Amino acid sequence: MKPQVTQSIYDFFSLENKVAIVTGAGNGIGKATAKMMADLGAIVVACDIETESLAETVADITAKGRTAMAMPCDITVPDQVQTVVERTESVFGTVHILVNNGATMGGGKPVDEVDEKEFDRLIDVNLKGVYHFTYAALPLMRKQQYGKIVSVSSVAAIAGDMTDIHYAAAKGGVIAMSKTLAKELALEKINVNVVAPGLINTRMLHEWEIEPALKRFHRIGEPEDVAAAICFLASDAAGYFSGQVLSPNGGEYML
Ligand SMILES: NC(=O)c1ccc[n+]([C@@H]2O[C@H](COP(=O)([O-])OP(=O)(O)OC[C@H]3O[C@@H](n4cnc5c(N)ncnc54)[C@H](O)[C@@H]3O)[C@@H](O)[C@H]2O)c1
Repeated sequence: MKPQVTQSIYDFFSLENKVAIVTGAGNGIGKATAKMMADLGAIVVACDIETESLAETVADITAKGRTAMAMPCDITVPDQVQTVVERTESVFGTVHILVNNGATMGGGKPVDEVDEKEFDRLIDVNLKGVYHFTYAALPLMRKQQYGKIVSVSSVAAIAGDMTDIHYAAAKGGVIAMSKTLAKELALEKINVNVVAPGLINTRMLHEWEIEPALKRFHRIGEPEDVAAAICFLASDAAGYFSGQVLSPNGGEYML
């Protein structure tokens, strides 16, 4: 017979009745996170620029009898972000958890192909998108003196990559911004942390990176490997973590 999980341990990791906004929830890591958070009891507000995949995520969650709401949103547009937060407050009362996951790819570009327009595009989505959502959700977290912000960076920000300086720069900015926010908000009981995945089996994965990675570890990561780290950081079990970077990467990079 399986041992029973005691109530106090369950409460520690549970997200029961927490209101969580997850960006980029239509695919990959965001989708896995939205579904895992709902399984852990959270009320999920799922955001993405892709409305069809977003609807699928929400349908998966509600089919299990859990609560989720789809909010199509471009994270680069402050008015749209503000609308998501306002609608979340009016429907569910507040925001407890913000997962800044939505991002776009660099496209494997060497430096001479990253012109200013392309550089700005990645900064707009992958860094300023995190800023816009954090800025919009913070007043609610401050009012209730409780909040968990988890932003998704990348090992590219820590270990560098062979291409895509713009992607690495934006992801490095996510870590720097989160560490400063963590210090600024510590006394307000708002935890700010980062997950920096290695190679994860989503459409963002570059095929050419898989072989060398498999020589160093027995498998590529799955979206759920990252979702589990995000859910932990969003739970009260991680209440003493702030300004930290967790890197699910199979041991390929050690911080
Ligand atoms: N897959 C990997 O190997 C890997 C590794 C390190 C970090 N990451 C990071 O993990 C996160 C999730 O990536 P993924 O691999 O699941 O990729 P994905 O492409 O499957 O998911 C990203 C989601 O973000 C959404 N998105 C993109 N631009 C948006 C915008 N302007 N507004 C709203 N939503 C937008 C997309 O529509 C998509 O649903 C990203 O932050 C990514 O940089 C991924």
